[in-house]
Amino acid sequence: MEFTRSHHWIFLVILHLAGYRFVMTSNPKPNFVLMIADDFGIGDIGCYGNSTIRTPNIDRLAINGVKLTQHIAAAPVCTPSRAAFMTGRYPIRSGMDSGESRVLQWLGAPGGLPPNETTFASILQKQGYSTGFIGKWHLGANCESSNDHCHHPLKHGFDYFYGTPFSLFHDCKPGGIRELDVHIEAKLKLLTQLMAFAVMTLVIVRYSNMLTISRNLILYSALFTVLFFITWYLKYGFIHYWNCIIMRNYEIIEQPMKVERTASLIVREAQQFIDRNKNAPFLLIVSFLHVHTPMITTKAFTGKSKHGIYGDNVEEMDFMIGSVVNTIDNAGLENNTMIYFASDHGGHIESKEGKLQAGGWNGIYRGGKGMAGWEGGIRVPGIFQWPGVIPSNVEIDEPTSLMDIYPTLVHLGGGDLPKDRIIDGRDLMPLLTKKTAHSEHEFLFHYCGFLLHAVRWHQKESGAIWKAHYVTPVFFPEGAVGCYDRIVCACEGDRVLHHDPPLLFELSADPSESSPLDPHVDPYKTVLNRIKMAVAEHQKTVSEVPVQISRLNNLWRPWLQPCCGIFPFCWCDKEDSNVTEIPE
Ligand SMILES: *[C@@H]1O[C@H](CO)[C@@H](O)[C@H](O)[C@H]1NC(C)=O
Ligand SMILES: *[C@@H]1O[C@H](CO)[C@@H](O)[C@H](O)[C@H]1NC(C)=O
Repeated sequence: MEFTRSHHWIFLVILHLAGYRFVMTSNPKPNFVLMIADDFGIGDIGCYGNSTIRTPNIDRLAINGVKLTQHIAAAPVCTPSRAAFMTGRYPIRSGMDSGESRVLQWLGAPGGLPPNETTFASILQKQGYSTGFIGKWHLGANCESSNDHCHHPLKHGFDYFYGTPFSLFHDCKPGGIRELDVHIEAKLKLLTQLMAFAVMTLVIVRYSNMLTISRNLILYSALFTVLFFITWYLKYGFIHYWNCIIMRNYEIIEQPMKVERTASLIVREAQQFIDRNKNAPFLLIVSFLHVHTPMITTKAFTGKSKHGIYGDNVEEMDFMIGSVVNTIDNAGLENNTMIYFASDHGGHIESKEGKLQAGGWNGIYRGGKGMAGWEGGIRVPGIFQWPGVIPSNVEIDEPTSLMDIYPTLVHLGGGDLPKDRIIDGRDLMPLLTKKTAHSEHEFLFHYCGFLLHAVRWHQKESGAIWKAHYVTPVFFPEGAVGCYDRIVCACEGDRVLHHDPPLLFELSADPSESSPLDPHVDPYKTVLNRIKMAVAEHQKTVSEVPVQISRLNNLWRPWLQPCCGIFPFCWCDKEDSNVTEIPE
């Protein structure tokens, strides 16, 4: 039999279509599942060298993928680090860092991720991705009214949000320790007591006929005292209603949140999101409330670890990670999904609950949460798994940043980086797929608020890593390894030391930053000069922007308060489920 010309043509078209289909199905856009822990130390994990804590699910990701051992957060506290992660830029570029209050402290405050910042989620959304954010946001809520949602995840590239727009704080746990503004509150309380005492004195003086005092004076001062009390008590007395809420998209589901079931609901939501979107490319961020204080752990994990309430909480989070990974596997998506796990910054070494240790461990690294320059606050776990694309069981000790997620995902998702702004992150795929041996980062700048505390130089020729500290926090009490007399160390003022000449460490030889180099001996001068030039170059690229988390922008405004009733009567529980067990 002979093909006619037209048969031939049809045959070619069929071949072409088949080929096209082949390309479409064998090389579709990958899914992204990014899991971010809160305050989790690099020393808290089995695959990073901890032999007594059990993290089999995190370890499994590392065995099946790439483990980064020099993965650096752009800031040592939540809000700025997360802002940098979402925008691929140092937080000072978006106004999301400040030495004044460091993190957002009220959901009813106007600060937050500015509407003109473009997250990688926004870019992926335009590339056809379904985008979900589940868990802790902590990048702001409203700008001008209680429901303009200007900083909300749904305004920053996500189709779906479930979780707390704020964070977990001690104040969220009923009957727990008070955390926010405790000193201010104590002063206000004392002032109220003094005022009440004065009113009582007036009453006694009047009725014992010692002096003639007008009734109105007594009435007005009593009224003033009561109003004064109501004003501050409204703010602090109901703090768990104001800050601790759960939202689904724009709807408030729990106010206050029921902390004991949040872990289970986060896993349930993540699993449902994956199941709903398994036929489309999707981006899912699971941002755990673990292992931030207060330690809230379900019964199944309580008392099970070798490291008290903190260890229990870590092992529970590991189980949650396993549940999410299992869902991906069960949906048959493992070969087409890039999974990433990291922590927003280092472990909070000072953190205690009563007398119990409630903060993480940063292994051999000095310092922790809140201490910009010291390695313990910024060197975090970073693991990638993508079978068939990223090799398995590989360790990479090159400087990388959480900001790198931005360009990496944008490229993989087929989008373009914004051209009108600086993106500080670098595409990680060449490094992860071993196409190149070195990361693109030559310098990383370690800020604490507005102040540049330290700079890391990755010397390309020699491979050496240097770190210069211009400012370091003063640990208190003296000799301690953290600032145990306050929640987190300060960035500026009399609680930091300015070093001139700067402290210089050869990080590649001295990862614990224990012996600074002698300024009079080479190569101190050469290294410092090179770093100085880089700082000058970098500073030219930093422009002034409105500060989002200034003291003023961190003040509670009742009219910005998300409220599921009529303010100040804000309480609701629309969560039908009473699940307390974490789904597998
Ligand atoms: C393992 O982690 C726990 C909890 O943070 C910590 O107390 C312990 O010192 C760590 N052990 C090692 C060997 O790093
Ligand atoms: C993923 O790839 C591996 C290795 O090629 C293969 O054994 C496995 O069956 C794949 N899984 C799925 C769900 O296709």
